[in-house]
Formats: sequence, C-alpha cells, structure tokens
Amino acid sequence: MNGNFDLVIFGGTGDLALRKLYPALFRAECDACLHAGGRIIAAARQKMDDAAFRDRVSEALNRFAPDIIKAAPDGALARFLARIAYFALDVNAPEQYRELKARLDERASQTVFYLSVGPALFPAIIDGLKTSGLNTSETRIVLEKPLGRDLVSSRQINDLVLDAFSEAQVYRIDHYLGKESVQNLLALRFGNTLLEPLWNRTWVSNVQITIAEMVGVETRGEFYDSTGAFRDMVQNHLLNLLCITAMEPPSSLDPDAVRDEKLQVLRSLKPWTQESLRENIVRGQYRAGSMGGQAVGPYLAEAGVTAGSCTESYVALRTEVANWRWAGVPFFLRTGKRMAERRAEVVINFRSPPHSIFDSALAPNRLVITLQPEESVRLYTMAKAPGDGMRLREVYLDLDFQQFFRERRQDAYERLLLDVLRGNATLFMRRDEADAAWRWCQPVLDHWAAEQTAPIGYAAGSWGPPASSRLTAIADTAWHEELNI
Ligand code: BG6
Repeated sequence: MNGNFDLVIFGGTGDLALRKLYPALFRAECDACLHAGGRIIAAARQKMDDAAFRDRVSEALNRFAPDIIKAAPDGALARFLARIAYFALDVNAPEQYRELKARLDERASQTVFYLSVGPALFPAIIDGLKTSGLNTSETRIVLEKPLGRDLVSSRQINDLVLDAFSEAQVYRIDHYLGKESVQNLLALRFGNTLLEPLWNRTWVSNVQITIAEMVGVETRGEFYDSTGAFRDMVQNHLLNLLCITAMEPPSSLDPDAVRDEKLQVLRSLKPWTQESLRENIVRGQYRAGSMGGQAVGPYLAEAGVTAGSCTESYVALRTEVANWRWAGVPFFLRTGKRMAERRAEVVINFRSPPHSIFDSALAPNRLVITLQPEESVRLYTMAKAPGDGMRLREVYLDLDFQQFFRERRQDAYERLLLDVLRGNATLFMRRDEADAAWRWCQPVLDHWAAEQTAPIGYAAGSWGPPASSRLTAIADTAWHEELNI
C-alpha cells in the first residue's frame, strides 16, 4: 500500500468481521502490507468506545487466529489495534452518516466501505452514503454475498448501488476467488502448455467440481434455512470455479479481460428445460448420522431451522457449457454440509484409450486438483504392476504444493482486502457476471418453488443422497471418491 486508507466496515461487530476480516487484516499487518496511515473503522449499532472495541478484536484474534498471534512480529498487535476505531451508527439515521463524513474528511485517504451486513440493510446504508455525499468518485464499496436471493432482488441491489457508485467502484466479493488454490488453477491452465491441447471435448469426458463441508449450519441456522445450499454455494462459489475451469485463456490478467471470459462461460451454460430440471438436479437434506465417530443430529433439529423445513443442505447437478470447446461434456457440480470429508476439488476425467492392448481394465486418466483442505494436483495414470505378466494398475503423479512452497499462504480475505485497497478488481464479480449467474439459477429456484417437494434425506457423514450417484452413472462415470484407488 502506498497511501493512507480508511476502511469502514459496516457490520463491524458481526460474525464475518470478527472471524475473517480482522484476522485477515492482522495477517496483512504482520506482513507489513498495510500502509502506516491506514485506519480501520468498525461501524455498528451498539454504543462502545474504541478501547472496548479493540479488546473485542483482540479477543477475536486470539480465538480465530491463534497461529498468527503466536507468530506475529513484536509490536504488530499493538500497531494493528491502534489503527482500529469504533463508530456507533444507526444505519437509518442520516445525520450519523454526516458525522462519519466529518470523521473521514479529517484527512485525505482512500476510503473503502465494506458492507459486511445482510442484504436487507444494503438500501439504508447505500442511501445514507449517498445523501451524506460519502459516495465520491474516490471511494470504493465492497458487497458481501448473498447479493440478493434471486434474479429480481439481485438486480434491485445492483441498481441501487450503481445509482450511487460507478461499476468501477463496486467490489462484489466471493472469497473463493481469493483462495491461493484458485489462483493456482489459473496458473496451471495458463502458465503451462501441457494441458491446453487436452482441455476440451475431444479429450475430456466429464468435469466434476465439489465443495464438500463437514460442518453443519453452525450458528447460522436462521440465515441458512432461508438460503439453502444452492443460493449459498452454487450461485457463487461453484459457478466461479466452473468459470475458471472452463473459460478461454484471457488476453491478460487485466480485470475486464478475465471477467469477460468468465462471463462467456456463464452465458454458455445450457439453459434449463423442464426435463433437465427434473432429471439433472438432486436436492438433499441431512438426517442424523455420525461424523468422526460422534453422533450428530439432523438438519431439522438445528437451532434457527423451521419445523419441517424443505431447505436443501446438499445439491448435486449436471450441466453443460454449450460452446465449441465443451459441447457434450457433462459438468457435475456438488456441494453439501455434514458430508464425509471437507474437500474442495476440480476433477477432470479424460476419455478412455480408444483401444486396449492389455488384458487389464484401463481406468481413464484423471486430473484431480484439490483446493481444500490441502492443495495438490494429482494425475492418475495406468502403470505396470511389478511382477510377472502385464498387469496394469492405477497410480498417480503427485504435486503437493506444501512441499514446494514453504512460504505462508495468503488467506482469501487477506488477498481480496488488499486487492480492494490497491484497486484491483480482477477477483471480484462484475455486475454482468452476477446477473448471468442469477439468470441461470433462477429457473431452478422457480422449479423448486413450484414443485414444493422435500429434499431427499442423507445421513450426516455420508457423501449425500444415493440419487446423486445416478446423475453420474447416466453419463457412464462416477464421483471421484467412488473411483478412488
Ligand atoms: C460461505 C458460505 O460463503 O462459504 C458458508 O456461506 C460456507 O456456508 C463457506 O461454509 C465455505 O467457505 P470455506 O472457505 O470454508 O470453504
């Protein structure tokens, strides 16, 4: 950073801020990536003074980032806390925005407003910023997901924000795009020539993208129950991973060059039909089960979840990127809570050899890019098993990034917050991308609303409803873990 900044976090006492934003900023502090003249101003309703709030941040850092606290250079925590201030604000009180403005006007700085609040509060905050004249062309605004709950509400939010700010000032955050491993997917695809000739319908039989979580709805039962896995994960994180996997090489890493290519993928997603809505999507909800030997309760018993709720905690679907590169190649997307493992991965399944000269069955090659929990790339190939005769067995070439790179990984929020401060929008969603994603998602939401059927149950600790295996079986394949050697 090479200038003063004021980062104003609305919802500054909230869960996301305490768990993710302050720890991410503190990491940046430890790496000397924050300009000495940077201020972090938490804005929230509660009355509190700076000292009390700094205690709260310090507590949160000890709780959510003990490793960083332990490794922090001398004086880093004191420096970090000294840049934090608290500003009590009722989002519906216009005069309080004027007071905020007076505070920010004290000195010249790059101002960033981070809306770490539910979308219901967006209109009041944007209006407050606008009427108090805080929306100057020098400012930036960061919007946390969920950005609406359907196409109409997301358009309303975007209209509202673009009435006060220009598109170049708006940073729509999807923290998956800030993950080191997602950057690595870009590096793997566009920093090497090896894969590109194979990266198409001629050689790829299907693509699987999974984000499986072991956690349940945690303390967010009420929010999650009105959201569901499709809005929470598919509309944003999974579609972004799909875009990076399927997009054409951009001409540069310039924000619009990358976002134009991602947009093309979203626009190429095969439109839903009544048949594909029925056949190509599986919705699930976890029942009681066991996780790591511990019994866990069902979704319906989670705090904040309404009795008899039909909200899905699992979705698997099959779609297609209908363009010359990918026509006919199934793309399977899947996400769920209370699954057997925490794992995020992109699996490229290649076609079978056209002719076999061996007696052994030949498993098609697979490239498995694991994003979480560890970062690795494995290429599954056939090799001769030792011993007499020509028996082939599946083995893999393993690229383990922890072995190669000892440096500390930047956390997703750390990278994205620094990008906002530097004004680099490459890893943020542009309005037309967000719109295209919702446009593709809307028929699914409409279909579920019209159908009113309950999701299929799956045992907590499993890989989801058995019906999801039928999705892949129809395409003559199976989910990666079902194929695992
Ligand atoms: C968030 C979702 O966007 O991503 C959560 O709202 C989910 O429900 C989380 O748990 C997963 O993120 P990560 O980085 O832990 O994989």
